[in-house]
Amino acid sequence: MNPACGATYAIDQIIVSCTACGSLLDIKYDWAKLPRIKSLSYFEHRWGTKGTAAEGRADFSGVWRFRELLPFYRTEDDIVTIGEGRTVLQQADILARQMRMNPGNLMLQYEGLNPSGSFKDNGMTAAFTHARMVGAHRVACASTGNTSASLALFASLAEMQGVVFIGSGKIALGKLSQALDYGALTLQIQGDFDACLRRVRQIAVDKPQMGIYLMNSVNPFRLEGQKSIMYRILEARDWQPPDWVIVPGGNLGNCSAFAKAFDEMRELGLIKKIPRLAIINASGANTLYELHTKQGVSWKNNWYDTGAVQKFYAVMDENNIHAHTVASAIEIGRPVNLPKALRALSIMNGVVEEVTDDEILEHRAMVARWGFGCEPASAASVAGLRRLLDKQVISPSDSVVCILTGHELKDPNVTVKYHTGIDLKLAQESAPRSEPHGKMSNRPVPVEDSLDAIILAMGGDPSAL
Ligand code: F0G
Repeated sequence: MNPACGATYAIDQIIVSCTACGSLLDIKYDWAKLPRIKSLSYFEHRWGTKGTAAEGRADFSGVWRFRELLPFYRTEDDIVTIGEGRTVLQQADILARQMRMNPGNLMLQYEGLNPSGSFKDNGMTAAFTHARMVGAHRVACASTGNTSASLALFASLAEMQGVVFIGSGKIALGKLSQALDYGALTLQIQGDFDACLRRVRQIAVDKPQMGIYLMNSVNPFRLEGQKSIMYRILEARDWQPPDWVIVPGGNLGNCSAFAKAFDEMRELGLIKKIPRLAIINASGANTLYELHTKQGVSWKNNWYDTGAVQKFYAVMDENNIHAHTVASAIEIGRPVNLPKALRALSIMNGVVEEVTDDEILEHRAMVARWGFGCEPASAASVAGLRRLLDKQVISPSDSVVCILTGHELKDPNVTVKYHTGIDLKLAQESAPRSEPHGKMSNRPVPVEDSLDAIILAMGGDPSAL
């Protein structure tokens, strides 16, 4: 993604950063050599295809029915799909009234309706397709929960071994239960998400003998799939872009994918207007807000102030500052896609806002009462809308789409605590434990935050690597 470097790599290479300059990678298409897409409405005819017949598989997927816009696969046989992306955009008039927006102008995009219950399935289908193309057998990720649930599901159905790195006690119960149930090797690392990501990258990049294909959003193929969230929103609106797209910001992959989708559609002459982007941080995990909104770090002349970012992280390290928020999905201090997010803000004339945990909790409850519900991180988008309305950045007559990234049932603890004051998490910790006895029991493996311990837990021999 660094134009000053300009190195390129073949599509079948397994790398997640530029070996020349270290920057993140972009998937680039030579559109002139590909069949021309005349209009976006071309894609509509696939919508009603049934997924039961083999030839309908790609059309049935809410990601792959737009496959001409992510044409990195060789043939349709490469595509790994489980019927992801059949999600809905819903007009939320009661919620709009509560937010003092004009009726008809607030829409919610329910990505929690994906097979694993979050937007991650959009990206996993693309990255697993690439993994299959390059012959990967073992896939891994660090996760605040949803990536691990999605990876575990796809790995099991694609018959690959899934390994997930999660911060001990850091992920919501619904997500942990999914990773175990779908059969992934679940390493509970004594650390937070940022520590897990560092470790899994070390193993994927520095220990090639471990044969790990990395599934985090540093993998640019993930973002190719996540572009489809924007295609579906346009499709649901008869190809009319809204004024605003609002999305929670964690590792900043989703917002980056959205901007890439619009940038490419503009380049292809498929749209004229690009919506504005609002990325919402939790105030306890607000690196992008601090750097962009407070310090003015932005995308200029195709790059950004890397010194300011390094300084910010050095201060975090010196003061032992870690991310903390009730929205565990976005509890991330060092978002790896920060450069792409800065670029996204420039492409979509975007803003970054922060919201407190209380605002997240109140707006989550509002979405539950007047919508289909969502998990806490997702509600950051609606809480952010409220702030941006108050600041008159967004007007009640603007058309707004909030992305609800994950299903309400991902995090029942937060919901029960909100309504009853009872913290189920604490209740569980003090409860007596019994040995699991199911034939398929897949226990999480506690591991200290050390490379050797992790390799050992993955069945490797640290002394031999
Ligand atoms: N919302 C939910 C429900 C998420 O799970 C995440 C990220 C985000 C928003 C933020 O998206 O990282 O693209 O900015 N969850 C990741 C995970 C980090 O491991 O499941 P982002």
